[in-house]
Amino acid sequence: MNTNSGIRWNEQDSATFIDTSSIFVPGRSEQTETLLQLVPAQRDEHFTIVELASGEGILAEALLEAFPNCHYLALDGSEVMRKHLSKKLARFNARLEVRSFEIADREWRTTLPQATRCIVSSLCVHHLSDEGKRQLFQDMAQQLEPNGALLLADIVRPANARIAALFAHQYDEIVRAQSLQQRGDLSGFTAFQEEQWNYFQYDYNDPTSYDLPSSLPAQLQWLQEAGFKIADCFWMQAGHAVYGGFI
Ligand SMILES: C[S@@+](CC[C@H](N)C(=O)[O-])C[C@H]1O[C@@H](n2cnc3c(N)ncnc32)[C@H](O)[C@@H]1O
Repeated sequence: MNTNSGIRWNEQDSATFIDTSSIFVPGRSEQTETLLQLVPAQRDEHFTIVELASGEGILAEALLEAFPNCHYLALDGSEVMRKHLSKKLARFNARLEVRSFEIADREWRTTLPQATRCIVSSLCVHHLSDEGKRQLFQDMAQQLEPNGALLLADIVRPANARIAALFAHQYDEIVRAQSLQQRGDLSGFTAFQEEQWNYFQYDYNDPTSYDLPSSLPAQLQWLQEAGFKIADCFWMQAGHAVYGGFI
């Protein structure tokens, strides 16, 4: 997804992503709307949502608006992202808490709010190894209320090179269309190519990549093993899936 093979996410990646995510992420508003409809709560309920790697706050803004009584804990490893989110969502200050975290660590998992209804995450869990994802799903299952959910939007690993090539092509075509739609030209698509952002073209099978997506079937199985009674995929486009589990 980026040219920094083997190097973890850095503040330059954050700045690039803030400028380009509406073009670089396929069907962003559809993904957000899908996640929003899956949150297991009434619109006026008092409950807690935790977001892992909240970035610039696109999902946080949509959820805070849709659920006017929810308490929201936004976690992210990037100071640039945390500052951007805090400024953009200052109007929700009474219900919003922003904290730093490293997703691979386990300490933060024991300090989440006691009654967490929903844990969401977009485009970060793929940085964890297979074992890291399994452990995360188990730890999150322990933190959720009985009717809770873990909802993810992320890239998933294609089963073979033919499918990787298909996803790469689909992803290019979507970014090309989103660039034309949003900017009236191909400058967004050119930036996407220059950044070598298409995981399926540049990072698939690169053992040094910081992007480590796991296959969707494996992740659904790990969710079930972790105790999620329902584990399913709810939306998918160009290797980007919205999936998750309900306790
Ligand atoms: C591609 S962005 C996605 C941001 C946001 N979730 C979205 O969908 O717009 C990846 C996010 O994950 C965060 N991140 C990447 N690696 C991380 C890590 N190891 N621990 C904590 N946060 C991390 C970055 O700071 C960034 O905000």
